[in-house]
Amino acid sequence: MNSLNNVFAFCNQKGGVGKTTTVINLGTCIAQLGFKVLIIDADPQGNATSGFGIDKNDVISTIYDNIIGNVLLKDTIIKDVIKNADLVPSNAHLAGAEVELINIENREFFLRNLIKLVKSDYDFIFIDCPPSLGLLTINALVAADKLMIPLQCEYYALEGLGQLLDTFNLVKERLNHDVDLFGVIMTMADYRTNLTNQILTEVKEFFQKKVFSAVIPRSIKLSEAPGFGKPGIVYAPHSQGVARYKLLAEEFLERLQIRCNYQNEDEENSDAESVEKDEQAGSAQETVIQKSEE
Ligand SMILES: Nc1ncnc2c1ncn2[C@@H]1O[C@H](COP(=O)(O)OP(=O)(O)O)[C@@H](O)[C@H]1O
Ligand SMILES: [Mg+2]
Repeated sequence: MNSLNNVFAFCNQKGGVGKTTTVINLGTCIAQLGFKVLIIDADPQGNATSGFGIDKNDVISTIYDNIIGNVLLKDTIIKDVIKNADLVPSNAHLAGAEVELINIENREFFLRNLIKLVKSDYDFIFIDCPPSLGLLTINALVAADKLMIPLQCEYYALEGLGQLLDTFNLVKERLNHDVDLFGVIMTMADYRTNLTNQILTEVKEFFQKKVFSAVIPRSIKLSEAPGFGKPGIVYAPHSQGVARYKLLAEEFLERLQIRCNYQNEDEENSDAESVEKDEQAGSAQETVIQKSEE
């Protein structure tokens, strides 16, 4: 396929909203559908890296080395972390990037220039951003064709969004006219509470059709998967969370006018079907975490 507008930045300066989980699981779903995906871990916490089972201590080079050592992005890529998906890993060294970038020319364009050289090798490039609006996130927005915003279904979902949208608008105005908001993904929904529905209504009022219909539920399996170094779809392929990420993948591709679905696979898969039915019936699934007081 190799569309030219294939770089997606997953941004939200809040931590713990599901950026990394979405990058890993949506990326893996799309890779499983046969598209070639590159995931760029742009967060010094390296959660996308460990989420694919890569030991952060074993990582030889990150984007930091591209910045300070003139290493090419292609030499940083770990091939086939799963079938059809490659990874640019990260570890704590990347924290130095924010400082080093300040001193280089065209500091906002660094990642864009790196990606340019590998862009045509991939159908999709997903950038997992850190929980800040610093230079790494700016670089991701400048490199991106599209912005994806994961939002957690919680009281303060919209808090801080003004800042994110201001940053996005500034980047669009001054550095990358072509970047657009592609979609808003609601994560960690718990339909047994009124809160989730209230937040969904509120967010839809604000973002209208940008909000994906596939809402990701709170799911124990999704939260366990990174501990096993596996994407949810590999760790618990028939869980409710994964079923939703598959729907999200279909919707994501549909928005790009690419028709692709898991229908045949799911028809053969009674587990996944019953999961869906249970959810529609509003029953409490064992994989759904009780709403906590956190
Ligand atoms: N749908 C979900 N259900 C349950 N736990 C989730 C879900 N999505 C993410 N988590 C967990 O919540 C935490 C934060 O998610 P993460 O994707 O790392 O957020 P971010 O990248 O925005 O900081 C992680 O421990 C992750 O495993
Ligand atoms: Mg993260």
